[in-house]
Amino acid sequence: MTLLLGAEEVERAAALLRAGDLVAFPTETVYGLGADARNGRAVAAVFEAKGRPHFNPLICHFPDAEAAFAEVVADGRARALAARFWPGPLTLVLPRRPESRVDLLAGAGLDTLAVRVPGHPLSLALLRAAAVPVVGPSANRSGEVSPTTARHVLDGLSGRIAAVLDGGPCEVGVESTVLDLAAGEATLLRPGGVPAEAIEAVIGPVARPMPISATQAKGALRSPGMMLSHYAPSLPVRLEARDAAADEALMAFGPPLPGAGRVWQLSEGRDLREAAARLFAGLRWLDAEGQRLGLARIAVMPVPMEGLGAAINDRLERAAAPR
Ligand code: TXA
Ligand code: MG
Repeated sequence: MTLLLGAEEVERAAALLRAGDLVAFPTETVYGLGADARNGRAVAAVFEAKGRPHFNPLICHFPDAEAAFAEVVADGRARALAARFWPGPLTLVLPRRPESRVDLLAGAGLDTLAVRVPGHPLSLALLRAAAVPVVGPSANRSGEVSPTTARHVLDGLSGRIAAVLDGGPCEVGVESTVLDLAAGEATLLRPGGVPAEAIEAVIGPVARPMPISATQAKGALRSPGMMLSHYAPSLPVRLEARDAAADEALMAFGPPLPGAGRVWQLSEGRDLREAAARLFAGLRWLDAEGQRLGLARIAVMPVPMEGLGAAINDRLERAAAPR
């Protein structure tokens, strides 16, 4: 039985985490599958609950920068970015301190660690109450669409985890931006809630990855999370749709194309923040409706690449990738 905990039950959620149980929790990006990062068994249970085929490194969550930087070595760039964007949707990959208490499995044996301070009052309250570093991959079964409500978490993980802390729908809706500062040159490993341009305004040029399709073809994955097929609905996904058919479920951005069997509006007014927040719920809904009505695929209208559009297009490309 998975408990559904309300905002007033933060202490109970924290106690479960400290006892080594798995507790999904809301962040501003997506719901995370929390576990005590120092507890190897709890971390292993996260991989098991998600059904992750490989031990991808996990992000460690902290209530503030000071707690995060106790586990990793932060340079001037990391401190400047933390001051500007934390709490918020930015994850920094930094050299792990030798004395770090984070279990090696959480970092998949790497000598770096991904750290972030999430920008959601309930995550911060939980992290403060737990007083341990908390790993938090997205709280979904491996390969499925990330959850942006407690209901989504239960749909995938009910019975596999101790509890879900319900904080309502996530505001940002796409995962954090992952920036590698451990290897010298700042490198974007995953586009996300903080646009790369905003990072560059603080620390100067950031190396951008090749388009993910090209990266995959060259086998040059720096981050296991850059794997191409991910966020996969059951129905096939067609990108850059400029027309729609009756046997298609349409993901609209702006005035919807006519003729589709079902429509989910990302943002009528073409607002990228609104679109990001509605992306994963839309993929889930179109997939369920499309299957119910026997539709052939999900068609997605073009979304511009500026700002949060980079993260949105990244997730859409993965949803559309061959599996
Ligand atoms: O918004 C988010 O970041 C959400 C919420 C719950 O915080 N969490 C999340 O975690 O998306 P996860 O585990 O699904 O994604 C972690 C990403 C993966 O792409 C992983 O490969 C990368 O970060 N990563 C983690 N540690 C790394 C490391 N040491 N070096 C390189 N990449 C790393
Ligand atoms: Mg994920």
